[in-house]
Amino acid sequence: MNNFVMTLNRFIVESGRKYPEATGAFTSLLADIALAAKVISIQVNKAGLLDIFGGAGSENVFGEAQQKLDVSAHEAMVKSLRFGGACCAMVSEEDENIIDIPEKYPKGKYICCFDPLDGSSNIDVNVSIGTIFSIFRRVSPDNDPITDEDILQPGYSQVCSGYVIYGSSTMLVYTTGNGVHGFTFDPQYGSFILSHPKMVIPRRGNIVSANESNSNSWHEGLQRYLKHCKEPQPKTGKPMTSRYIGSLVADFHRNLLKGGVYLYPGDQKNPNGKLRLMYEANPLAFLVEQAGGRAITGKGRVMDVTPGSLHDRTPLIIGSKENVNEVEEYLKGKR
Ligand code: AHG
Ligand code: MN
Ligand code: MN
Repeated sequence: MNNFVMTLNRFIVESGRKYPEATGAFTSLLADIALAAKVISIQVNKAGLLDIFGGAGSENVFGEAQQKLDVSAHEAMVKSLRFGGACCAMVSEEDENIIDIPEKYPKGKYICCFDPLDGSSNIDVNVSIGTIFSIFRRVSPDNDPITDEDILQPGYSQVCSGYVIYGSSTMLVYTTGNGVHGFTFDPQYGSFILSHPKMVIPRRGNIVSANESNSNSWHEGLQRYLKHCKEPQPKTGKPMTSRYIGSLVADFHRNLLKGGVYLYPGDQKNPNGKLRLMYEANPLAFLVEQAGGRAITGKGRVMDVTPGSLHDRTPLIIGSKENVNEVEEYLKGKR
């Protein structure tokens, strides 16, 4: 039995068996996300061909209207999740409002928040992009209308979070609070196969990831931190390495594997930075903590923030524990 492949579905079903109260709804929710990920992955791989067959607004060779990939990825997530019956509401970067489940579909107890396509400005240049998701359980009784309290929950209430990266291979990485596990899509099996069990972020890394062009308007402590990164580090005798893709998922995935810190702080003009709390910062914060790292806003733990509205932004400093601790010391003026 040793050579039996561990698919994502089998892994979730076996993990669920530890909980006698499990109904299977969660298993079906993750299967719905995996299905959407396969659809998005196919769309992403065809991105270069869209220009050949006609841009947005026109019809493709099959007579279907072309859509921007952000929108088609959003639709893939919404359609897959509402058919599955595990969700009672959704939040997407691509929709201003809460997405209800139409009457004709069954409703479950989960709320799924997602960034359908993260890093989408990188599509045209063939650079890795991703999908990020965060899952909560509703707090109001099952058959009542959804309330703000159900949707605007702090990150520490997440029951699951993860991302899919469309890179040199497609990978799905997720946590349910029991470690972080990564699955690589195998086109031959048509399934995600466990390739990275129990992922752990190094305690310290030498990568620093930030859009440094913004740094003149950052907090003075962060400007000093960047200078420090360029000096020889005590452990290595060399400066840190700068790596910034501009796709949060891809920058995070690399740092999770190699160790380091990613910063998207606020500045004078945008005190809360750029990234969104509910479907970018929170899910990655849950993953990094489960992998042994840290995620802070500069003022406190990302997952302790209660969102005020669906698309709230937050500063984000995320990565290896010792690197994040160090950034925090610079922010507090201790260094
Ligand atoms: P999205 O494509 O979902 O709008 O997100 C873009 C985000 C994130 O992926 C990335 O890390 C960040 O924008 C890059 O911002 P800068 O171009 O300001 O560096
Ligand atoms: Mn994004
Ligand atoms: Mn996006």
